[in-house]
Amino acid sequence: MTASKNQHLAANPYRPWPTRITSIVDLTENEKLFELRIIDDEVRDTFRFDSGQFVEMSIFGVGEAPISISSAPSKRGFIELCVRKAGDVTGALHSKRCGDIIGIRGPFGRGFPIQEMKGHDVLLVAGGLGIAPLKSLINQIHDERHEFGKVTILYGARNPSEVLFRYQFDMWKHRDDFELILTVDEADDSWADEVGVVTKLFDKIEIDSARTYSAICGPPVMYRFVIDEMRKKGMDVDRIFVSFERRMKCGIGKCGHCGVGHQYTCIDGPVFSYWEAMNLQEAI
Ligand SMILES: Cc1cc2nc3c(=O)[nH]c(=O)nc-3n(C[C@H](O)[C@H](O)[C@H](O)COP(=O)(O)OP(=O)(O)OC[C@H]3O[C@@H](n4cnc5c(N)ncnc54)[C@H](O)[C@@H]3O)c2cc1C
Ligand code: FES
Repeated sequence: MTASKNQHLAANPYRPWPTRITSIVDLTENEKLFELRIIDDEVRDTFRFDSGQFVEMSIFGVGEAPISISSAPSKRGFIELCVRKAGDVTGALHSKRCGDIIGIRGPFGRGFPIQEMKGHDVLLVAGGLGIAPLKSLINQIHDERHEFGKVTILYGARNPSEVLFRYQFDMWKHRDDFELILTVDEADDSWADEVGVVTKLFDKIEIDSARTYSAICGPPVMYRFVIDEMRKKGMDVDRIFVSFERRMKCGIGKCGHCGVGHQYTCIDGPVFSYWEAMNLQEAI
């Protein structure tokens, strides 16, 4: 009999499973992309996740940090994490090398509603490191391109040196089945794309609001302004999805660290519709 998906979580959700770092890409001065392979054969073969879910990544002897999965669910056997060096755990991860072992628990949380999105146009808006969880969704849409209508991606960073996944975006800019617009707040001589905050890009796009789902991920300050632009384009609040980052510990709704309104971000989110967020009276 074959084991069902994520059976390891039902057995013990607190147990970190060892993974081997199989590749490290320096994306910017402070962000690296890590590819991990789960060592246990059965856990690896049955590990399944949705775009927008996260894992608790652990460095043994240091601690744990919640990190979104950046790779597509279709990439089996490996997961990718795009990690900014922020403190103890992420700093310790940044000092690791290929072949080193780190732990993961998960996948946890509720991801993007990919089944609802299928058959519709999709508008994805990312700011800074917010591209990390959206990258998983972008890759999934790329893998199942025929399932979606028009796909528009707006991505803003502070300056060209902070643009993540630039090598991939440079390739995608030339495809005619994705509309990708990049912008930076402050350009330099190397920059040939847009300049200004990401909300300025809404003047450049056409949205059929009746058939569009959208997802936003970025610094909290960005959400309100992006949602205002989406609402001006006529988008419904229950088709706009946002991802919340809160302090997390357990990842499974037990410790109470990640409360938002009457819900827990780790199990009821991190992805919420804007309609849900409004009902949680969450300050967006
Ligand atoms: C669901 C979720 C998904 C995430 N995905 C990613 C990701 O894909 N890539 C990534 O690099 N980071 C991600 N983060 C943020 C990441 O978890 C934190 O940067 C990490 O926990 C910091 O741990 P540390 O031990 O390195 O730093 P610490 O020493 O714990 O903290 C360093 C600094 O970061 C602040 N900080 C820590 N956690 C948070 C938080 N949740 N929100 C705001 N500030 C915080 C601290 O106050 C401190 O100033 C995510 C967080 C959540 C909740
Ligand atoms: S992280 Fe413990 S309840 Fe959410």
